[in-house]
Amino acid sequence: MSRDAIRRAARLSVAPMMDWTDRHCRFFHRLMSRHALLYTEMVTAPAVIHGDRDRLLGFDAAEHPVALQLGGSEPAELAAATRIAAGYGYDEINLNVGCPSDRVQSGCFGAVLMERPALVAGCVSAMIAVAPVEVTVKCRIGVDDQVPEDVLPAFLETVSQAGVTRFAIHARKAWLQGLSPKENREVPPLDYSLVREMKRAFPHLHISVNGGVQTLDQARGFLADELDGAMVGRAAYHEPWDILGRADEVIFDAAPGPDPFEVAERMKPYIADHLSRGGRLHQITRHMLGLFHGRPGARGWRRVLSERGHGAEAGLDILDAALSEVRRLAA
Ligand SMILES: Cc1cc2nc3c(=O)[nH]c(=O)nc-3n(C[C@H](O)[C@H](O)[C@H](O)COP(=O)(O)O)c2cc1C
Repeated sequence: MSRDAIRRAARLSVAPMMDWTDRHCRFFHRLMSRHALLYTEMVTAPAVIHGDRDRLLGFDAAEHPVALQLGGSEPAELAAATRIAAGYGYDEINLNVGCPSDRVQSGCFGAVLMERPALVAGCVSAMIAVAPVEVTVKCRIGVDDQVPEDVLPAFLETVSQAGVTRFAIHARKAWLQGLSPKENREVPPLDYSLVREMKRAFPHLHISVNGGVQTLDQARGFLADELDGAMVGRAAYHEPWDILGRADEVIFDAAPGPDPFEVAERMKPYIADHLSRGGRLHQITRHMLGLFHGRPGARGWRRVLSERGHGAEAGLDILDAALSEVRRLAA
């Protein structure tokens, strides 16, 4: 896929989310939007180098356009991981400079890197030197007692000089101590106007805003209002059809995606294949619980999948039972 095509896809992206945006989730999301850009969970560079690569990096061709997010802060390690990952055919490699979790801090990566722009520049230069695809950065507006109005432009300046021209900016500071990662996604407050200001200050950069985007209309508003993209995390996961099912029409001026019933039907061959390889139903259906969000029967759908989808024997009949329950409750 060309860089321009990926940039267009980045008008709406689904954020990297550990334990959530795995390959099953991305396959499911792709059925709803043919155009949105999908991010993997973060994978650390050492894991790519030393771990089970096929398990960490493998994905279905249907998932394109798909971006891999890497975590790390060692240029040589990140370059090695980028080279390996590129062989899997990702459309973009993204560096995580936004995640505040303790585990990530102790390895000196994630949001703590906001304090070390020169190191980030070194990391991305090493990645760009070996990457056949675009290298991008997901960052915060600052951490701890940094002043975002000062550090964010300096960070973008330094990192863009190293060759990165596309950023996703989570519009709130990260607190590296005293807040859990979950709390860090709710406080401190979002500062969208600073992100817009960055687009005005760096018009040549492609800037996506992230954090607190709840609806497609809100995403569209950001696009109409100077920004190049909106990255949606939790709302896309919990209300996938409301965000992704309408995205092709609302954001990409393309034909609308299939309705939620059709999406469930189209998941069946994928699920059957997974089960035939010894996988569990729940590994896939756990990502599908929000499919009928806000519609009649949504609760019944969730209930059947949550209560009956876990067992080793759970098969496609459980999905059919959940669909029948939606139809019954919706009738
Ligand atoms: C369960 C979960 C896991 C996350 N994992 C990552 C991650 O691996 N890498 C990353 O950069 N951000 C991660 N994030 C942060 C999201 O990418 C995003 O920045 C954040 O949720 C704010 O966007 P939202 O308000 O649209 O959810 C995670 C968020 C959640 C909810």
